[in-house]
Amino acid sequence: MRTQVGIIGAGPAGLLLARMLQQRGIESVVLEARSRSHVEGRIRAGLLEQGAVETLTEAGVAGRLHREGLVHHGLRLRFGGAEHRIALSQLTGRAVTIYGQQEAVKDMIALRLADGLPLLFEAAEVAVHDLATARPRITFRHDGRGHVLACDVIAGCDGFHGICREAIPPGGLRVFDRPYPFAWLGILARARPMSEELIYARHARGFALATMRSSSVSRLYLQCAPEEDPAAWPDERIWAELGARLGASEGELETGPILQRGVTAMRSFVAEPMRHGRLFLAGDAAHIVPPTGAKGMNLAIADVRVLVRALEAFFAGKGEALTDSYSATCLDRVWKAQRFSWWMTQLLHRYDDGDAFEERVRLAELDYLVGSAAARTTLAENYVGLPYAD
Ligand code: FAD
Ligand code: PHB
Repeated sequence: MRTQVGIIGAGPAGLLLARMLQQRGIESVVLEARSRSHVEGRIRAGLLEQGAVETLTEAGVAGRLHREGLVHHGLRLRFGGAEHRIALSQLTGRAVTIYGQQEAVKDMIALRLADGLPLLFEAAEVAVHDLATARPRITFRHDGRGHVLACDVIAGCDGFHGICREAIPPGGLRVFDRPYPFAWLGILARARPMSEELIYARHARGFALATMRSSSVSRLYLQCAPEEDPAAWPDERIWAELGARLGASEGELETGPILQRGVTAMRSFVAEPMRHGRLFLAGDAAHIVPPTGAKGMNLAIADVRVLVRALEAFFAGKGEALTDSYSATCLDRVWKAQRFSWWMTQLLHRYDDGDAFEERVRLAELDYLVGSAAARTTLAENYVGLPYAD
């Protein structure tokens, strides 16, 4: 087999890349380790920056997103017994959209298969070779047989636990890694959302977030220990803890059947550069953020925009200036999103390290934030998404 771009991973990054390359007449093959039902059922992010919505729209994959997505013009911060609204649209002229990541993934998979283009699920033993040459290769097993895929370029869109980043020789990457001393217990519940807008709550018992997937499905998160066992959280305990931390008044938090629950570890991680020879990393393969700033999927989409333009010039014989600047262009945005995600995380979570000085500084910062239009604007313009480089 041979193709122009071998794409490893059918998450948001890999699927969007395949689609945008197709629009430009560039061939690709997408290899995914897991089954279609597994990939489509994986519940993860849900908040899209306006630029991400525009990118998906230009890619022609946003029909259902525009019908079913919930456009939000503000968010709520709750702490110290009060609620403060950050008027995102008033402050920035932009909005964000709630649309489940797995819904976007389903839309892109359906389109790719309807177009009859190669997307192989359950590809096993995927490995990359000859990255420093002009003829990189991918080997894998599929349907019980071994295959070799010869490529011009390989896109490593295989997430944080993928094989592409690991294939870069030692010394080829610099890694920045910051774990956090807490995680999130997340649930999906058949219950009316607590508010029309997201509520980020800081409470003495820990952080909580009330978000949603639709007018009848809530997505809720609680700060917990990194090694937390979800089995230690019967439904009643989850609802009681959410009510307390979110400061819900009588009847404000509607409960309902819990459809899914899981614990998500939190870390900030960047691998630099995002390229080795003919291998380009995009999305979680190169960087992850704690979810407090809602940047994970948005960064994956932003990387793909940059990579598509670079590959378009490359395959049109217009030289390698854009492939050479790919990593630096992406990292500029990545580090700003890292800063914002780290900042939101440390500001809103409970720390048990007993550092009273830092705690007072966080309280002062929160008070400043809700009292200053300049500070609120800073939060808002990062939250709705900084402008793209192009
Ligand atoms: P992924 O979505 O991880 O896709 C990578 C794909 O590559 C996967 O389908 C994987 O199966 C496949 N793959 C892996 N290894 C191989 C291999 N060897 N061969 C072939 N295929 C392979 N962000 C938020 O903003 N809010 C959230 O609440 C949130 N929750 C999250 C919860 C979890 C458990 C995780 C892991 C992430 C969460 N994120 C969240 C982050 C967000 O979902 C990611 O940033 C986003 O999925 C990145 O997309 P991606 O395409 O780069 O990677
Ligand atoms: C979500 O809807 O899952 C979501 C929204 C905002 C976040 C994190 C997760 O900061």
